[in-house]
Amino acid sequence: MAETWTVLKVLRWTADYFREKGIESGRRDAEVLLADTLGLDRVGLYLHFDRPLSADELAAYRRLVARRAQREPLQYILGETEFWSLPLRVTPEVLIPRADTEVLVEEALKKVTGAVGILDVGTGSGAIAIALAHELPEARVEAVDISPAALVLAEENSGRNGVTERIHFRRADLYQLQGGPYDLVVANPPYIPATDMDELMPEVRDHEPHLALRGGDADGLAAYRTLATAAASLLVPGGWLLVEVGIGQAEAVQRLFAEAGLDDCYLRDDYAGIPRVVGGRKS
Ligand SMILES: C[S@@+](CC[C@H](N)C(=O)[O-])C[C@H]1O[C@@H](n2cnc3c(N)ncnc32)[C@H](O)[C@@H]1O
Repeated sequence: MAETWTVLKVLRWTADYFREKGIESGRRDAEVLLADTLGLDRVGLYLHFDRPLSADELAAYRRLVARRAQREPLQYILGETEFWSLPLRVTPEVLIPRADTEVLVEEALKKVTGAVGILDVGTGSGAIAIALAHELPEARVEAVDISPAALVLAEENSGRNGVTERIHFRRADLYQLQGGPYDLVVANPPYIPATDMDELMPEVRDHEPHLALRGGDADGLAAYRTLATAAASLLVPGGWLLVEVGIGQAEAVQRLFAEAGLDDCYLRDDYAGIPRVVGGRKS
């Protein structure tokens, strides 16, 4: 007689298997993937621990488990994530938006209100631009990226969140930015130094786009050098440049901003206490 695989048995087996593969959040990931396969939420799984899986359900679930075992991020497997409590589709063409980046949105919302003009540099999935357009109904947002595939996805995400009318997506190279002047320029640019790329977790190194990760120059700070210099022409007087930075980069970027003549340069920590956002204002 064929073995019966119940919800609980499948979860236990998968959690062990993921642990062997070095995935720390094994049980949780197993629950998320099984819930997705069965069209339940995670609480629903707990209410149906004894439910047997059909052969088709088991086959579909196994396909997802095999992908996760290759260290593919859950968000790419599900094709979905949340940023600023807004639903976003994500594919391997774009960086998975991180909770840390919400700190950049929080800072931006302290700096501007009303009918302002905003530029989001390196928009990726559109996360920052969409969150700002959502919170600032009178703002006009321009969102640029070098990746055409990212721009297509970002525009789709803006439609899904009802802000397409107020975001203009266009292809542009951050090293040759034109336009504005804007009241606010935000950016979460690629910032990982090339020499650190091999150290990244397999989920990041082997699955997220290197175009979104690897920063230029030996220290990874090339984008910040360019943005600090470009701020003079991109911003209105009194306008703010706000950027996300990697661990250990904040003070160097703050110095770059000050050397480029920006005023009131400051750092903001993320919720883990790591300096994560650098801001500066055009005088
Ligand atoms: C770290 S990701 C940030 C994505 C998104 N803003 C977020 O916070 O989740 C950096 C983005 O910059 C884009 N990018 C890389 N090089 C670029 C360049 N030279 N000009 C414009 N965008 C660039 C990448 O395609 C990627 O979408």
